[in-house]
Amino acid sequence: MKKSGSIAVFLCSNCGTDYPKWLGQCPNCKEWGTLSEYKVPKSKRGSKNRTPSESTSLKDVLKKGQTNRIPTCITEVDRVLGGGILPGSLILLGGNPGIGKSTLALQMLGKVEKPSLYISAEESEDQIAMRAKRLQISSSEMQLSGENHVDNILEQIISLKPEVVIIDSIQTVYSDSIDSLPGSVSQIRESGQQLLQICKERGVTIILIGHVTKEGIIAGPRMLEHMVDTVLYLEGDDRYDHRILRSVKNRFGATNEVGIFQMQAKGLIEVENPSELFLAERSVNVAGSAIFPSLEGTRPILVEVQALVSSANFGTPQRNVNGFDLRRLSMLLAVLEKRLKLPMGTRDTFVNLVGGLRIDDPAADLAVIGAIASSALDKPIPQDMILIGEVGLAGEVRSVSQLEKRLVESQTLGFKSAIVPKFGFKKANQTPQNMKYYQVDSVRKAFDIIFP
Ligand SMILES: Nc1ncnc2c1ncn2[C@@H]1O[C@H](COP(=O)(O)OP(=O)(O)OP(=O)(O)O)[C@@H](O)[C@H]1O
Ligand SMILES: [Mg+2]
Ligand SMILES: [Zn+2]
Repeated sequence: MKKSGSIAVFLCSNCGTDYPKWLGQCPNCKEWGTLSEYKVPKSKRGSKNRTPSESTSLKDVLKKGQTNRIPTCITEVDRVLGGGILPGSLILLGGNPGIGKSTLALQMLGKVEKPSLYISAEESEDQIAMRAKRLQISSSEMQLSGENHVDNILEQIISLKPEVVIIDSIQTVYSDSIDSLPGSVSQIRESGQQLLQICKERGVTIILIGHVTKEGIIAGPRMLEHMVDTVLYLEGDDRYDHRILRSVKNRFGATNEVGIFQMQAKGLIEVENPSELFLAERSVNVAGSAIFPSLEGTRPILVEVQALVSSANFGTPQRNVNGFDLRRLSMLLAVLEKRLKLPMGTRDTFVNLVGGLRIDDPAADLAVIGAIASSALDKPIPQDMILIGEVGLAGEVRSVSQLEKRLVESQTLGFKSAIVPKFGFKKANQTPQNMKYYQVDSVRKAFDIIFP
């Protein structure tokens, strides 16, 4: 029999599943040591005099809700969000410490001409004001608050009636009904749920800022990602001053869309032509470099793939990769070895996507394999040539999505020739006129052209 008082469940910090007893491994996501105790608040367990919520007809909802998106006036952000902030949505903005989350959040509120509320328990109001001054934001519609108690936050939202709220960060928010520390799984789950509720009830948009752990996930629970409508990550590299805003989940827009910024004293400045940025320091006439028009969401971005192949001194050769999938690299190396008779088994291979970019696009295969072969053979790839194509296990070159878009961007940036998949090229209907195309169906044919 259950005693009155609080009921405890055990919550997985990775996937958010709950269990009646503690387990060493989460049966759902198979992570070890992620379960911790969560006391279900009394009010949450439902009482007898609960009133059922009423249902509404779809027609009425449609009539009521011609919800217009609120533009942030930052083109890169609006595109990533799918055309601006959707009223009533819950957005999670994650990123490493110091990457610029607060800066971006403040800039987003800066140009929204609607009442807004910036809640920060991490910094004092003075510190936020100082940052706002540096970013030249002087919105008269913005309220600042240092509240971190979830009930008070809800009250402020109800009394101030903001349309957009930023909570910096979700890890600092806590609820009295749970006796664990702010930032713990239970606290994040509880406050996340309360904020989600007010979001949907009142049509207010809430942007939650979340810290990311060393492992690259939002600290505390993955479950926040399930709860929210949109998940944005602000990424960057210590070595570069540009930042990439990526949507990894979006209930109301396309994912994989990216926004590119440069971090300056005045804040995050939009980069209008990212290809130029990524190719700025490109090495020409050096073996081991290939250019590839990647497609990030709807936008093509030209990137440089660099490879270095050297003979391994002892034991197992090293395979090191930045910005590309390691297993995919192993596959490409096997294709080089088996189909093209280039011995790779005794050599170290390093592959790097310049600019800290991360690419998950099979169309990059030909450029990666090309850069590796170029380094292994010590023959540069012509500097005005781009390589596009997915590589299969038989060493065949397969068609890629949106070839036209990629070619147009390449031509704009001054590239004169392209190695393209034969099949995909035949189907493409509008490719830029003044470029030379080499249609190939195998890596061997591509190499015959690149390395005559
Ligand atoms: N005067 C300045 N000039 C240029 N860049 C600056 C200046 N001041 C701050 N920055 C940049 O802003 C970054 C910090 O931004 P911000 O505080 O928005 O990051 P954050 O992700 O919110 O960090 P935290 O995890 O600590 O909350 C710094 O790492 C630095 O790159
Ligand atoms: Mg911050
Ligand atoms: Zn789990």
